[in-house]
Amino acid sequence: MAFLDDIDPLKQTALAELKGAPDLAALEQTKGAWIGPNGKFTALMKQLGTLSKEEKPAAGKLINAAKVELEAALVARREELELKAALPKEPTDFTLPGRRRALGKLHPLTQVTDDIVRAFRKIGFAVADGPEIEDEYHCFDALNTPADHPARDSQDTFYLAATPSPEPNTSRLLRTHTSSVQIRVMEKQPPPVRIIVPGRVYRRDNADATHNPTFHQIEGLYVDKNVTVSDLKGTVEFVFRELMGSDVKIRFRPHYFSYTEPSYEIDFTNALVKKMGKDWLEIAGCGMVHPQVFETVGYDPEVWTGWAFGFGIERIAMLRYGINDIRLFYENDARFLKQF
Ligand code: DAH
Repeated sequence: MAFLDDIDPLKQTALAELKGAPDLAALEQTKGAWIGPNGKFTALMKQLGTLSKEEKPAAGKLINAAKVELEAALVARREELELKAALPKEPTDFTLPGRRRALGKLHPLTQVTDDIVRAFRKIGFAVADGPEIEDEYHCFDALNTPADHPARDSQDTFYLAATPSPEPNTSRLLRTHTSSVQIRVMEKQPPPVRIIVPGRVYRRDNADATHNPTFHQIEGLYVDKNVTVSDLKGTVEFVFRELMGSDVKIRFRPHYFSYTEPSYEIDFTNALVKKMGKDWLEIAGCGMVHPQVFETVGYDPEVWTGWAFGFGIERIAMLRYGINDIRLFYENDARFLKQF
Protein backbone atom coordinates (compact mmCIF):
# COMPACT_ATOMS: atom_id res chain seq x y z
CA MET A 1 0.00 0.00 0.00
CA ALA A 2 1.49 3.33 -1.14
CA PHE A 3 0.64 5.28 2.01
CA LEU A 4 2.21 2.80 4.40
CA ASP A 5 5.30 2.55 2.20
CA ASP A 6 5.79 6.32 2.34
CA ILE A 7 6.08 6.50 6.12
CA ASP A 8 9.45 4.93 6.66
CA PRO A 9 11.47 6.75 3.96
CA LEU A 10 9.95 10.07 5.07
CA LYS A 11 10.84 9.31 8.66
CA GLN A 12 14.42 8.39 7.73
CA THR A 13 14.92 11.64 5.83
CA ALA A 14 13.40 13.65 8.68
CA LEU A 15 15.63 11.90 11.24
CA ALA A 16 18.74 12.52 9.16
CA GLU A 17 17.90 16.22 8.86
CA LEU A 18 17.16 16.61 12.57
CA LYS A 19 20.33 14.85 13.60
CA GLY A 20 22.40 16.82 11.12
CA ALA A 21 21.07 20.30 12.02
CA PRO A 22 24.21 22.42 12.40
CA ASP A 23 22.82 24.86 14.99
CA LEU A 24 19.73 25.65 17.06
CA ALA A 25 18.17 27.95 14.45
CA ALA A 26 18.55 25.30 11.74
CA LEU A 27 17.08 22.73 14.09
CA GLU A 28 13.95 24.82 14.69
CA GLN A 29 13.55 25.24 10.94
CA THR A 30 13.87 21.51 10.34
CA LYS A 31 11.33 20.88 13.06
CA GLY A 32 8.85 23.22 11.32
CA ALA A 33 9.48 21.60 7.95
CA TRP A 34 8.61 18.14 9.27
CA ILE A 35 6.47 18.15 12.36
CA GLY A 36 5.24 21.76 12.51
CA PRO A 37 1.56 22.52 11.60
CA ASN A 38 2.52 22.69 7.92
CA GLY A 39 5.22 20.05 8.08
CA LYS A 40 5.56 17.19 5.67
CA PHE A 41 5.08 14.60 8.36
CA THR A 42 2.06 16.45 9.73
CA ALA A 43 0.59 16.38 6.24
CA LEU A 44 0.99 12.63 6.19
CA MET A 45 -0.88 12.35 9.47
CA LYS A 46 -3.68 14.45 8.08
CA GLN A 47 -4.09 11.89 5.30
CA LEU A 48 -4.91 9.24 7.89
CA GLY A 49 -8.55 10.34 7.76
CA THR A 50 -8.78 9.45 4.09
CA LEU A 51 -7.84 5.82 4.66
CA SER A 52 -10.26 2.93 4.76
CA LYS A 53 -11.32 1.34 8.04
CA GLU A 54 -9.04 -1.65 7.42
CA GLU A 55 -5.98 0.41 6.62
CA LYS A 56 -6.32 2.97 9.42
CA PRO A 57 -5.19 1.03 12.55
CA ALA A 58 -1.90 -0.23 11.12
CA ALA A 59 -1.08 3.09 9.46
CA GLY A 60 -2.00 5.05 12.62
CA LYS A 61 0.25 2.89 14.74
CA LEU A 62 3.16 3.27 12.37
CA ILE A 63 2.77 7.03 12.08
CA ASN A 64 2.48 7.57 15.80
CA ALA A 65 5.59 5.49 16.48
CA ALA A 66 7.48 7.46 13.83
CA LYS A 67 6.33 10.76 15.35
CA VAL A 68 7.54 9.71 18.80
CA GLU A 69 10.89 8.84 17.26
CA LEU A 70 11.16 12.20 15.49
CA GLU A 71 10.30 14.12 18.65
CA ALA A 72 12.91 12.20 20.64
CA ALA A 73 15.51 12.95 17.96
CA LEU A 74 14.55 16.62 18.12
CA VAL A 75 15.00 16.81 21.90
CA ALA A 76 18.32 14.94 21.80
CA ARG A 77 19.75 17.16 19.07
CA ARG A 78 18.53 20.28 20.86
CA GLU A 79 20.39 19.25 24.03
CA GLU A 80 23.55 18.57 22.06
CA LEU A 81 23.42 21.94 20.33
CA GLU A 82 22.63 23.83 23.54
CA LEU A 83 25.68 22.28 25.18
CA LYS A 84 27.79 23.16 22.18
CA ALA A 85 26.53 26.77 22.25
CA ALA A 86 27.49 27.08 25.93
CA LEU A 87 31.10 26.01 25.31
CA PRO A 88 33.79 28.65 24.69
CA LYS A 89 34.27 29.41 21.00
CA GLU A 90 38.08 29.35 21.27
CA PRO A 91 39.98 26.49 22.88
CA THR A 92 40.88 27.31 26.51
CA ASP A 93 44.50 28.41 27.01
CA PHE A 94 45.47 27.01 30.40
CA THR A 95 48.80 28.84 30.34
CA LEU A 96 47.14 32.27 30.65
CA PRO A 97 47.46 33.94 34.06
CA GLY A 98 44.38 33.79 36.28
CA ARG A 99 42.24 36.89 36.48
CA ARG A 100 40.29 36.89 39.65
CA ARG A 101 39.71 34.41 42.46
CA ALA A 102 36.24 33.01 41.80
CA LEU A 103 35.60 32.10 45.41
CA GLY A 104 37.11 32.84 48.81
CA LYS A 105 40.25 34.72 49.79
CA LEU A 106 43.80 34.01 50.82
CA HIS A 107 44.44 33.84 54.56
CA PRO A 108 46.04 37.06 55.86
CA LEU A 109 49.19 35.14 56.83
CA THR A 110 49.43 33.78 53.28
CA GLN A 111 48.98 37.29 51.89
CA VAL A 112 51.75 38.68 54.07
CA THR A 113 54.05 35.75 53.26
CA ASP A 114 53.41 36.22 49.53
CA ASP A 115 54.24 39.93 49.82
CA ILE A 116 57.47 39.23 51.69
CA VAL A 117 58.49 36.57 49.17
CA ARG A 118 57.69 38.95 46.31
CA ALA A 119 59.88 41.68 47.85
CA PHE A 120 62.82 39.28 48.23
CA ARG A 121 62.38 37.89 44.74
CA LYS A 122 62.86 41.40 43.35
CA ILE A 123 66.41 41.31 44.70
CA GLY A 124 67.27 37.81 43.59
CA PHE A 125 66.35 35.54 46.50
CA ALA A 126 64.97 32.06 45.80
CA VAL A 127 62.55 30.21 48.07
CA ALA A 128 63.90 27.11 49.83
CA ASP A 129 62.12 24.55 51.96
CA GLY A 130 62.90 22.02 54.67
CA PRO A 131 61.16 19.52 56.98
CA GLU A 132 59.05 20.55 59.97
CA ILE A 133 60.02 17.31 61.72
CA GLU A 134 63.72 17.90 62.23
CA ASP A 135 66.56 16.31 64.13
CA GLU A 136 68.62 17.91 66.87
CA TYR A 137 71.61 18.11 64.59
CA HIS A 138 70.02 20.42 62.01
CA CYS A 139 68.00 22.42 64.52
CA PHE A 140 70.76 22.99 67.07
CA ASP A 141 74.18 21.31 66.80
CA ALA A 142 75.02 22.37 63.27
CA LEU A 143 73.91 25.86 64.26
CA ASN A 144 76.60 25.90 66.91
CA THR A 145 74.04 25.67 69.72
CA PRO A 146 75.57 23.84 72.69
CA ALA A 147 73.87 20.89 74.37
CA ASP A 148 73.01 22.91 77.48
CA HIS A 149 71.41 25.81 75.61
CA PRO A 150 67.96 26.62 77.09
CA ALA A 151 66.28 26.48 73.67
CA ARG A 152 67.04 22.75 73.61
CA ASP A 153 65.23 22.12 76.85
CA SER A 154 62.23 19.82 76.62
CA GLN A 155 60.30 22.60 78.35
CA ASP A 156 60.75 24.70 75.22
CA THR A 157 60.92 22.19 72.39
CA PHE A 158 58.52 19.47 71.27
CA TYR A 159 60.56 16.27 71.06
CA LEU A 160 59.20 13.20 69.31
CA ALA A 161 59.27 9.85 71.10
CA ALA A 162 62.79 8.42 70.89
CA THR A 163 63.53 5.61 68.45
CA PRO A 164 64.93 2.46 70.20
CA SER A 165 68.63 3.38 70.09
CA PRO A 166 69.05 6.95 68.92
CA GLU A 167 72.40 8.01 67.54
CA PRO A 168 73.81 11.08 69.27
CA ASN A 169 72.03 14.24 68.02
CA THR A 170 69.44 12.40 66.00
CA SER A 171 66.53 12.82 68.41
CA ARG A 172 63.65 14.03 66.38
CA LEU A 173 61.75 17.20 67.20
CA LEU A 174 59.44 19.79 65.70
CA ARG A 175 61.70 22.54 64.41
CA THR A 176 61.79 25.54 66.73
CA HIS A 177 62.95 27.86 63.98
CA THR A 178 63.46 27.91 60.22
CA SER A 179 67.22 28.31 60.78
CA SER A 180 67.56 24.52 60.38
CA VAL A 181 66.92 25.01 56.67
CA GLN A 182 70.09 27.12 56.40
CA ILE A 183 72.03 23.95 57.23
CA ARG A 184 70.00 21.73 54.90
CA VAL A 185 70.55 24.11 51.97
CA MET A 186 74.29 24.57 52.59
CA GLU A 187 74.80 20.79 52.96
CA LYS A 188 73.30 20.35 49.50
CA GLN A 189 74.81 23.14 47.44
CA PRO A 190 78.11 24.96 47.16
CA PRO A 191 78.17 28.74 47.72
CA PRO A 192 76.99 31.31 46.71
CA VAL A 193 73.57 31.04 48.36
CA ARG A 194 70.72 33.52 48.30
CA ILE A 195 67.57 32.05 49.79
CA ILE A 196 64.55 32.78 51.93
CA VAL A 197 62.58 30.12 53.77
CA PRO A 198 59.00 30.77 54.80
CA GLY A 199 57.72 28.04 57.08
CA ARG A 200 55.99 26.82 60.19
CA VAL A 201 57.79 26.43 63.51
CA TYR A 202 56.81 24.98 66.90
CA ARG A 203 57.54 25.92 70.49
CA ARG A 204 56.15 24.76 73.79
CA ASP A 205 54.49 28.07 74.48
CA ASN A 206 51.06 28.23 75.99
CA ALA A 207 48.68 30.16 73.82
CA ASP A 208 48.07 33.74 74.89
CA ALA A 209 47.47 36.96 72.96
CA THR A 210 51.03 37.06 71.60
CA HIS A 211 52.16 33.41 71.74
CA ASN A 212 50.99 30.24 70.11
CA PRO A 213 52.61 26.77 70.10
CA THR A 214 52.97 27.03 66.33
CA PHE A 215 53.67 30.09 64.23
CA HIS A 216 55.51 31.07 61.06
CA GLN A 217 58.92 32.50 60.31
CA ILE A 218 60.88 33.66 57.33
CA GLU A 219 64.54 32.81 57.33
CA GLY A 220 67.07 34.46 55.03
CA LEU A 221 70.56 33.38 54.11
CA TYR A 222 73.04 35.12 51.86
CA VAL A 223 76.50 33.67 51.31
CA ASP A 224 79.02 35.05 48.85
CA LYS A 225 82.45 36.67 48.78
CA ASN A 226 82.76 40.00 50.62
CA VAL A 227 79.23 40.07 52.05
CA THR A 228 78.92 42.65 54.82
CA VAL A 229 76.56 43.90 57.54
CA SER A 230 75.72 46.90 55.40
CA ASP A 231 74.31 44.53 52.72
CA LEU A 232 72.21 42.98 55.45
CA LYS A 233 70.93 46.30 56.71
CA GLY A 234 70.19 47.56 53.19
CA THR A 235 68.30 44.39 52.35
CA VAL A 236 66.18 44.41 55.49
CA GLU A 237 65.40 48.10 55.02
CA PHE A 238 64.38 47.56 51.40
CA VAL A 239 62.05 44.69 52.24
CA PHE A 240 60.35 46.44 55.15
CA ARG A 241 59.78 49.54 53.06
CA GLU A 242 58.21 47.40 50.34
CA LEU A 243 55.97 45.81 52.97
CA MET A 244 55.07 48.64 55.29
CA GLY A 245 55.66 51.86 53.38
CA SER A 246 58.46 54.33 52.79
CA ASP A 247 58.35 55.88 56.28
CA VAL A 248 59.88 52.72 57.77
CA LYS A 249 63.07 53.05 59.80
CA ILE A 250 65.08 50.13 61.14
CA ARG A 251 67.92 49.89 63.61
CA PHE A 252 70.28 47.10 64.62
CA ARG A 253 70.86 46.38 68.31
CA PRO A 254 73.73 44.06 69.38
CA HIS A 255 72.46 40.67 70.55
CA TYR A 256 73.59 37.06 70.86
CA PHE A 257 72.80 34.08 68.62
CA SER A 258 75.13 31.10 68.60
CA TYR A 259 75.06 30.78 64.81
CA THR A 260 75.96 34.39 64.01
CA GLU A 261 78.81 36.68 65.04
CA PRO A 262 78.26 39.55 65.35
CA SER A 263 74.52 39.19 66.02
CA TYR A 264 71.77 41.79 66.16
CA GLU A 265 68.15 42.24 66.88
CA ILE A 266 66.35 44.34 64.34
CA ASP A 267 64.05 47.08 65.61
CA PHE A 268 61.50 48.64 63.39
CA THR A 269 59.46 51.82 63.50
CA ASN A 270 56.98 53.76 61.39
CA ALA A 271 53.81 55.82 61.93
CA LEU A 272 51.91 52.68 63.03
CA VAL A 273 54.43 51.89 65.76
CA LYS A 274 54.30 55.50 66.98
CA LYS A 275 50.52 55.28 67.07
CA MET A 276 50.85 52.26 69.35
CA GLY A 277 52.70 54.59 71.75
CA LYS A 278 56.07 52.91 71.12
CA ASP A 279 59.33 54.18 69.71
CA TRP A 280 60.66 50.88 68.34
CA LEU A 281 59.39 47.34 67.94
CA GLU A 282 61.68 44.33 67.94
CA ILE A 283 60.99 42.46 64.72
CA ALA A 284 63.80 40.02 63.84
CA GLY A 285 67.13 38.44 64.71
CA CYS A 286 70.12 38.47 62.38
CA GLY A 287 73.86 38.50 62.07
CA MET A 288 76.94 37.41 60.14
CA VAL A 289 77.08 33.63 59.76
CA HIS A 290 79.42 32.15 62.40
CA PRO A 291 82.62 30.63 60.92
CA GLN A 292 81.90 27.45 62.88
CA VAL A 293 78.61 27.01 60.95
CA PHE A 294 80.51 27.31 57.67
CA GLU A 295 83.08 24.75 58.86
CA THR A 296 80.28 22.36 59.80
CA VAL A 297 78.70 22.43 56.33
CA GLY A 298 82.07 22.37 54.57
CA TYR A 299 82.26 26.00 53.37
CA ASP A 300 85.68 27.65 53.76
CA PRO A 301 85.17 30.58 56.18
CA GLU A 302 88.37 32.20 54.86
CA VAL A 303 86.76 32.52 51.44
CA TRP A 304 83.04 32.92 52.10
CA THR A 305 81.13 35.36 54.25
CA GLY A 306 77.41 35.59 54.76
CA TRP A 307 74.53 36.84 56.77
CA ALA A 308 71.30 35.36 58.01
CA PHE A 309 68.12 36.60 59.59
CA GLY A 310 64.84 35.24 60.88
CA PHE A 311 61.58 36.97 61.64
CA GLY A 312 58.07 36.05 62.65
CA ILE A 313 55.37 36.39 60.02
CA GLU A 314 52.51 36.71 62.53
CA ARG A 315 54.31 39.61 64.17
CA ILE A 316 54.48 41.49 60.87
CA ALA A 317 50.89 40.66 59.96
CA MET A 318 49.69 41.86 63.38
CA LEU A 319 51.56 45.10 62.94
CA ARG A 320 50.40 45.60 59.38
CA TYR A 321 46.72 45.00 60.08
CA GLY A 322 46.57 46.26 63.68
CA ILE A 323 45.68 42.83 65.14
CA ASN A 324 46.30 42.41 68.86
CA ASP A 325 45.62 38.70 69.36
CA ILE A 326 47.67 36.06 67.51
CA ARG A 327 45.04 33.38 68.12
CA LEU A 328 42.68 35.08 65.66
CA PHE A 329 44.85 33.78 62.80
CA TYR A 330 44.13 30.16 63.68
CA GLU A 331 40.48 30.21 64.63
CA ASN A 332 39.17 30.41 61.06
CA ASP A 333 36.34 32.68 62.07
CA ALA A 334 34.92 33.89 58.76
CA ARG A 335 34.06 37.29 60.29
CA PHE A 336 37.77 37.82 60.94
CA LEU A 337 39.05 36.35 57.67
CA LYS A 338 36.62 38.32 55.51
CA GLN A 339 38.33 41.56 56.42
CA PHE A 340 41.53 40.91 54.47
N1 DAH B 1 66.23 31.60 64.75
C1 DAH B 1 66.02 32.83 65.50
C2 DAH B 1 64.69 32.72 66.29
O1 DAH B 1 63.94 31.83 66.03
C3 DAH B 1 65.96 34.00 64.57
C4 DAH B 1 67.26 34.23 63.92
C5 DAH B 1 68.23 34.99 64.53
C6 DAH B 1 67.53 33.69 62.68
C7 DAH B 1 69.45 35.24 63.93
C8 DAH B 1 68.76 33.92 62.08
C9 DAH B 1 69.70 34.69 62.70
O2 DAH B 1 69.06 33.41 60.89
O3 DAH B 1 70.88 34.92 62.09
O4 DAH B 1 64.46 33.53 67.11
